[in-house]
Amino acid sequence: MNITYFGHSAFLLETKNCRILTDPYLLENPLYQGTLEEVGHLDYIFISHGHFDHLGDAKSLQKLTGAIVVSNPEIVGYLETGTGIQPSGWIPFPFGRVKAVNALHTSGIPSENGTLYGGQPFGYVFELEGKRIYFAGDTGLISDMALLKPLSIDIAMLPIGGFYTMDLEDAVKAVDMICPKAVIPMHYNTFPAIETNVTDFQPKSAEVLLIKPMETVEI
Ligand code: NI
Ligand code: MN
Repeated sequence: MNITYFGHSAFLLETKNCRILTDPYLLENPLYQGTLEEVGHLDYIFISHGHFDHLGDAKSLQKLTGAIVVSNPEIVGYLETGTGIQPSGWIPFPFGRVKAVNALHTSGIPSENGTLYGGQPFGYVFELEGKRIYFAGDTGLISDMALLKPLSIDIAMLPIGGFYTMDLEDAVKAVDMICPKAVIPMHYNTFPAIETNVTDFQPKSAEVLLIKPMETVEI
């Protein structure tokens, strides 16, 4: 499977027969270089919560690609398309299985008429080609993360930029709770408030898999 990082919390997960994008904040994302068309075919778009830097270009990308949007029911309702899910057991998808898990954050949707109610923020555990990937979304450190340890997570994608989410110190504690094989840092260096020296992220209990924006790794 290939993982491409578009900066912030936008990852393209590419298996043999499926292309999944998380939190499609692209055109206004200073770390993304390209157009929406250049993302290519998409089967699914998973959105963690309603903030502009996560909902991003979901509407245009969905129209462009015909991808199925998956998020909480409020965000799916706002987009008027997709599959609304809840914190749950494993939910089967054609590409594997997904579990929505708690995130400690908010989820308001910015609009011309003020902030709309955006439901609960989520993280997702993806099971793809026999690998388990935890995409945390935006979250502070929560003891719920200990529930992920028995799931034998292969890769944890964790926010490290602080201010709106866990910082380096809390992300290291999260890694100690989750015990993934590897951790991919995200949600840093996009804005001044979340500037972070990523080389200072040195959890002892997992390998750091650093993907630069616009870079692809095979796992
Ligand atoms: Ni947020
Ligand atoms: Mn965010």
